[in-house]
Amino acid sequence: MLVSAEEMLTKAKAGKYAVGQFNINNLEWTKAILLTAQELNSPVILGVSEGAGKYMCGYKTVVGMVNGMLEELGITVPVALHLDHGSYEGAKACIEAGFSSIMFDGSHYPIEENVEKTKELVAICKEKGMSIEAEVGSIGGEEDGVVGAGECADPEECKMVADLGVTMLAAGIGNIHGKYPDNWAGLSFETLAAVQEKTGTMPLVLHGGTGIPEDMIKKAISLGVSKINVNTECQLSFQEATRAYIEAGKDLEGKGFDPRKLLAPGTEAIKATVKEKMELFGSVGKA
Ligand code: 13P
Repeated sequence: MLVSAEEMLTKAKAGKYAVGQFNINNLEWTKAILLTAQELNSPVILGVSEGAGKYMCGYKTVVGMVNGMLEELGITVPVALHLDHGSYEGAKACIEAGFSSIMFDGSHYPIEENVEKTKELVAICKEKGMSIEAEVGSIGGEEDGVVGAGECADPEECKMVADLGVTMLAAGIGNIHGKYPDNWAGLSFETLAAVQEKTGTMPLVLHGGTGIPEDMIKKAISLGVSKINVNTECQLSFQEATRAYIEAGKDLEGKGFDPRKLLAPGTEAIKATVKEKMELFGSVGKA
């Protein structure tokens, strides 16, 4: 059964480790992540962007697929199904469809409207036993070839949003989605420490988990980060393994046209990436 991310993140914050959010795109991705979490006895969060949700035919299909896998793969570790960077409409649709967690990214609304919508969604999530994530300070990244720097969140604003009753808070600390540019300044631990001081026991979320050096990940966890999002790194390992398989001509051997065979090396590569991250984040054995 899907669970809210609240309990797993409260435990992570207290135990000074982080739960990984791994984004899913299809059946293979989902199966690889769930099997790895089960094998390592780790809690896990499956992230679904609005685009990935559309690709997988819509949120109801995603819920059906994940619930089916939990049962048929015998998954017993805590699993949350979480909308990643959701719009107001997307958040409502995921609540309806049976997700167990949502992120509402209302930063493009005027602050009053953002607060009002966040409050409304917090109330619905509380009633349904779901977790809700909010974001303060934009998380940069590559868009149309332009790499934007990650903005640092204002700790006062973080406190204000945390006080609306959200379960977890993504505060921008110089992190960005996708690959980090060579001249990246690194994470702002000063901002993180200030946010942590203002928000107390609230689990903090680090987006853009791909390519952050290990020592920075460990320091961020020690300063209150208890959820780390990873997407690009799984995509890169999938791509690399699939390309190697094709370039070696293996897809042309025997029943190489079989899509199950073609997707297998990439799926194994995702498993290895997820394992590496769970070990780094310290969530192994914490289910
Ligand atoms: P990366 O793609 O950089 O791993 O970031 C993932 C993320 O933050 C999803 O919300």
